[in-house]
Amino acid sequence: MNTRATSRYPTAFAERFDLRLPLVQAPMVGATTPAMVIASSNAGALGCLGAGAMTPEKLAAQVAEIRAATSRPFGVNLFVLDSQAVDEAAVRRALDAIDPLRAEFGLPPGRLPERCAPAFRAQLDRLIALRVPVVSFTFGVLDAADVARLKAAGSYVIGTATHVAEGLAWRDAGADAVCAQGAEAGGHRGTFIDADRNPLIGTMALVPQLVDALDIPVLAAGGIMDGRGIAAALALGAQAAQLGTAFLPCAESAIAPDWRRRLAASSDTATSVTRAITGRYARGIRNTLMERLEAEPARVAPYPVQNALTQELRQAAAKADRGDYLSLWSGQGAPLLRGRRALGGAAELVDALDAEWRACANAVSRIGMTE
Ligand SMILES: Cc1cc2nc3c(=O)[nH]c(=O)nc-3n(C[C@H](O)[C@H](O)[C@H](O)COP(=O)(O)O)c2cc1C
Repeated sequence: MNTRATSRYPTAFAERFDLRLPLVQAPMVGATTPAMVIASSNAGALGCLGAGAMTPEKLAAQVAEIRAATSRPFGVNLFVLDSQAVDEAAVRRALDAIDPLRAEFGLPPGRLPERCAPAFRAQLDRLIALRVPVVSFTFGVLDAADVARLKAAGSYVIGTATHVAEGLAWRDAGADAVCAQGAEAGGHRGTFIDADRNPLIGTMALVPQLVDALDIPVLAAGGIMDGRGIAAALALGAQAAQLGTAFLPCAESAIAPDWRRRLAASSDTATSVTRAITGRYARGIRNTLMERLEAEPARVAPYPVQNALTQELRQAAAKADRGDYLSLWSGQGAPLLRGRRALGGAAELVDALDAEWRACANAVSRIGMTE
């Protein structure tokens, strides 16, 4: 496969999508907005919308909003979820732990909503009909027939992998590229093979192993916060870096003010990977909600049931701007945000990252010339 690009572009992936720099603005449910995607794509990165929690109607409306404001490529991300039978006893056990927390916010005892997550099939069918330039997936792998339908609709398909077997599964399904999600990454782990073991392979180790194992482009995600990280990702063989946490403080981000404050004050040791909040492993800044739910591990229901059962509580916390009861998803690189002067929007961040990664790549190439 041709991974080299013409001199105007650092990689074939950047060339394919006419990117000014090899940068993907990560899709993030709860944080990404059409405005963030528009700003990122218009600035020369690949903006991506986290649509995993959206109804097909909302997904279509937000895609229309993006299309109205940019003619540049963008992506949409979904969660690959099977509909599973709900275990009533597990719901009861989980609510026994969650209800006392709800009461502190004046909420009545919880109930399982009719739907714990949007129907994946309906989301996927709508996504295919929308013919968006790039589609990405996490939490599972599509079968080859669905990947073929997406490709026939003109979409470029990216699957998330947290270890090599998952990358091979996406390649075998026909994906165009794989996003390597290292352990440093904020938000949910994409793991779908051996998920109970919660393999946590760091970006530095994961990216080159996937590059060596696959003959399709690999994107690097997890702990990349600045131009140094982007240059490092390319040195490891990635064709682009996917940054999530770095975009959380941008003006277009949907996160609550107290989440922003806690992000700005966090340290390298501030995050943990937990399944207590949603039933699926995810990395976030430790807070009271995480600690209280982790205290009763046997009462944690599987995803998406636990996610649905804690949702109203987290919405009440967001309304009250109480970061102690939010899910504060964040990567291990968050303290690096402090090194950046106050930024307004995603476009300014993309500009800064472009200048930084070029300076870093130039500095690295000069190292080889000093001897
Ligand atoms: C708040 C938040 C929400 C996220 N939501 C999604 C999502 O909806 N879909 C997805 O594939 N990845 C999601 N991620 C993971 C990102 O795609 C990416 O892997 C991660 O942000 C990269 O690591 P970094 O946060 O250190 O940059 C989320 C990450 C964060 C921080």
